[in-house]
Amino acid sequence: MDLHRGSLAVTPEVRELHDGLERHGYVADPAIATALFLATDLRKPLLIEGDAGVGKTETAKVLAAALGTELIRLQCYEGLDAATALYEWNYPRQMLRIRLAEQAGREATETESAIFGRDYLLERPLLRAITRVEGPPVLLIDEVDRADDGFEAFLLELLSDFQVTIPELGTIRAVHVPYVVLTSNRTREIGDALRRRCLYLYIEHPDFEKEVRILRRRVPEASGELAGEVARFVQALRRRRLAKVPGVAESIDWTQALVRLRRAHLDEEGVTATLGCLLKDRHDLQELSPGTLGPMLAEARKGSPS
Ligand SMILES: Nc1ncnc2c1ncn2[C@@H]1O[C@H](COP(=O)(O)OP(=O)(O)OP(=O)(O)O)[C@@H](O)[C@H]1O
Ligand SMILES: [Mg+2]
Repeated sequence: MDLHRGSLAVTPEVRELHDGLERHGYVADPAIATALFLATDLRKPLLIEGDAGVGKTETAKVLAAALGTELIRLQCYEGLDAATALYEWNYPRQMLRIRLAEQAGREATETESAIFGRDYLLERPLLRAITRVEGPPVLLIDEVDRADDGFEAFLLELLSDFQVTIPELGTIRAVHVPYVVLTSNRTREIGDALRRRCLYLYIEHPDFEKEVRILRRRVPEASGELAGEVARFVQALRRRRLAKVPGVAESIDWTQALVRLRRAHLDEEGVTATLGCLLKDRHDLQELSPGTLGPMLAEARKGSPS
């Protein structure tokens, strides 16, 4: 969609952010640019959901680039706990300090207060995000659905107060409130309390035009015709019943593979050889028997000179 002719809700500020995202290689649309603008302007966390490979993580990366700030990423996983996400004590350095103090015959209490000071603290992403002095960073809390409920409750508290208490040091308040982007693939439902605190953006698979633009941007070596054929083929594929629907990531990989194999157009031989870039499930590969592939290829090549 052409943003400059597009939606009524697009203000000059949204347009400016949209253009910044585009300058950094991201093909944005009014919905994405508006959600990012509001999240940064209202300083509210933005929760982004959508299928795998639709560009959720990339949104946060490119937002940081467009704002000219640092991206701090916390990758969530099962078992991630607050301590690991916040800080750890630099244990080897503390031990070294203790040994040196013992050799020098210093008082144990003096050593103890020293080794629990800021110099011995290893800041992990969440603490780093609130102590950055140069300005607010973009804090990406990626795949928050993979973390447990307990971690989500802790996040909720952090995102309300932007302060943390370290028993040995006291309370540390945010120097600047970071821009926060959370992503989820919905492997677990995010709780209502966290949802309520965030603005929400659902990224759909791109439509044909947007996908062509993404492919042209990400694989500039591909001709417009090839990008069009790939996009048309992938769009048709997404309408089929598949176990793993290909995302933008897969269509980019596939286009790159076709270019590397010097395929100017989609044909049965080239597609069969490279289908593993696009489909990552055995049953999905079987879906595309020669009987179904032929008509899909013919459809995808419509509009391209033969
Ligand atoms: N709108 C876009 N403009 C340019 N590139 C895009 C766009 N959307 C996705 N991409 C590209 O597609 C790939 C996948 O994007 P990304 O990793 O952000 O997806 P994701 O939604 O986070 O996937 P997952 O759920 O698997 O983590 C990246 O290489 C990214 O650069
Ligand atoms: Mg991601």
